[in-house]
Amino acid sequence: MKKIPDDIKHEIEVLVKDLTEHCYRYYVLDSPVISDEEYDRLYRRLKELEERNNFILPDSPTQRVGAPPLDKFKKVRHTEPMLSLDNAFTHDEIREFEQRLKRFLDSDENIEYTVEPKYDGLAIELTYRKGVLYKASTRGDGYEGEDVTNNIKTIKSVPLKIEPGHPLEEIDIRGEVYMDIKDFEALNRDREAQGEPAFANPRNAAAGAIRQLDSSITAKRRLHLACYGIGAVTGIDFKSQLDLIKWLEDHRFPVPLNIRHVNGANKVIDTIREIEERRKDFPFETDGAVIKVNEFEMQQKLGVKTRGPRWAIAYKFPAHQGTTKIDKIILSVGRTGTITPVAFLEPVNIGGVTVSRSTLHNWDEIKRKDIRIGDIVVVERAGDVIPHVIAVIRDKRTGTEEKIPPPDKCPVCGSVVEREEGGVAFRCIGLNCSAQVQERIKHYASRAAMDIEGLGEKNVELLYSKGLVTHFVDIYKLKKEDLLELPRFAERSAQNLLDAIEKSRNTTLARFIYSLGIIHVGEYAAKLLAGNFENIEDLYRTKPEKLIEIKQMGEKIADSIAHFFNDPENLNTLKMLKGLGLKISNPDFKMTGTGTRPLDGMTFVLTGTLPESRKEVKHLIEQMGGHASGSVSGSTDYLVMGESPGSKFKKANSLGVSIISYEELMKMIGEGELK
Ligand code: IVH
Repeated sequence: MKKIPDDIKHEIEVLVKDLTEHCYRYYVLDSPVISDEEYDRLYRRLKELEERNNFILPDSPTQRVGAPPLDKFKKVRHTEPMLSLDNAFTHDEIREFEQRLKRFLDSDENIEYTVEPKYDGLAIELTYRKGVLYKASTRGDGYEGEDVTNNIKTIKSVPLKIEPGHPLEEIDIRGEVYMDIKDFEALNRDREAQGEPAFANPRNAAAGAIRQLDSSITAKRRLHLACYGIGAVTGIDFKSQLDLIKWLEDHRFPVPLNIRHVNGANKVIDTIREIEERRKDFPFETDGAVIKVNEFEMQQKLGVKTRGPRWAIAYKFPAHQGTTKIDKIILSVGRTGTITPVAFLEPVNIGGVTVSRSTLHNWDEIKRKDIRIGDIVVVERAGDVIPHVIAVIRDKRTGTEEKIPPPDKCPVCGSVVEREEGGVAFRCIGLNCSAQVQERIKHYASRAAMDIEGLGEKNVELLYSKGLVTHFVDIYKLKKEDLLELPRFAERSAQNLLDAIEKSRNTTLARFIYSLGIIHVGEYAAKLLAGNFENIEDLYRTKPEKLIEIKQMGEKIADSIAHFFNDPENLNTLKMLKGLGLKISNPDFKMTGTGTRPLDGMTFVLTGTLPESRKEVKHLIEQMGGHASGSVSGSTDYLVMGESPGSKFKKANSLGVSIISYEELMKMIGEGELK
């Protein structure tokens, strides 16, 4: 290698160190100190220096992306097997677990445990050699997994190098890769917008991302990691699980949220109850709690069995599952023509909710699970996620069950059906298919789009069937007299709908772009476009070659946008909407220069109950140029305090952070400009 000048080498080293620090602050501490633009600038500078001098440090953040796609994954043998855990389903089973431990240890002394949320993702092992991430592998069968190093490196919270440095020869760190529920839901919305099948749960979405041979696809999914254990290690001696967690935290690894240290089975049970109560507020899916004997010496004495260690157990929260019968399977046609098989079930109560429908996703899924009409099936409902059929109970088959073949024509309009090239979806190609038209209207009115309350599935179907709304433009032409003639409307409900329509005339460009239903343009892409174009005219005048220049904008999306705006009918729709009084503002547009928005560069933390939902306040802060962080630190500018504030209040006080009320925040924004 050519000798590189010392000053350049130094600049590269400093850039790698700084960028790593910023990444850690952003992705692990959730408390950044520089703007995204500044980060991008430093990153570009590093990339340029690396390329020009052909000098790349192994832990350079540029090495997180850009690995060429693989043909297949290599196998990796785990130095220490990655075992699984025994399960407990009742509190009594936790007490029995403790009794077993005491019998085995032949002691009646109190036992200390850690209780951690059980992350519902997939287990990964990270191998660091001399402090640098060298390999990442999946659990596989416990003895041999797959080499997914390129994919794991794309997860920004995974340290590429252990800092502060440590004289470690080798260490295997284990944890769970998972996806937050909100990112999972956004991913599914985007997939549906693109006519791709949705994932059944966040675990499948995370596993799917890690199994990609092309790591640039993994890089687009927002994955996280929580580290909770070690495998083989040389050069360091941990005393306990808590000691290990502290070391991991000190060395900048993300660790599970809400770890508790307790004494005796009864306290373990109290903590499980607490986690179960709080789990709905966790951003990720938890299916239980993991209970571990804290002291490593005691763990050693207890040893392992075939399935898992004797010193730990997984408590599973009651599964949201039920058994019921598939009465019929209906084919539903989506906005982009995708045909989805939906199972209509004999209603069953699962965790307090009556479930009577479940998507079967696609025909590959039907074939894989061999689902037939009349089958008795196990249905699962996880969090807010749509229920899905997990398995068929084959013993209950009577022989009268019917298979359901893929459609050869559209069940609604009778048009030809095509199988998507390289995909699993079947699609109706009829442009005027009434199902597609109605779905486009529903999409336009939906919450993430124009948010017209009261214009849901049933009303759209009614208005369409009466010929009152056959395109979403017609929504703005509705009159009270028309509505009053319909069976579902009276004076009050008609007025409410008209008011909601009126309200939706003031909207944002991001919402408006999304609502147009352009294929491949989901919520995320719409927001990205709104950030780059001041108004819709600027967008439709832009050529696809220019669109691709936008960071993160793929060719597929750019082509689809160009195709959409090339159609005179779509341009006419835009013209009509404008004529009907739509007012589109664009708070997402990133103007150049600074100080253009009231909260530019300020970091806020929220605590207590606020007059609006946290999500909304956070969104507002971001729209106004600020950053909303989850935890108080030295870089917090303001703590916005609502009723019954939590521990953040204490911390903010001790750090001397300014504490303001919601009303004061509104004043800073200048309420008037908002609406
Ligand atoms: S400890 C010897 N801690 O649950 C096994 N596992 O059901 C040590 N999991 O394979 C695992 N959260 O994939 C541990 N806080 C946590 C966990 C956790 C999720 C997963 C892990 C494991 C499975 C066992």
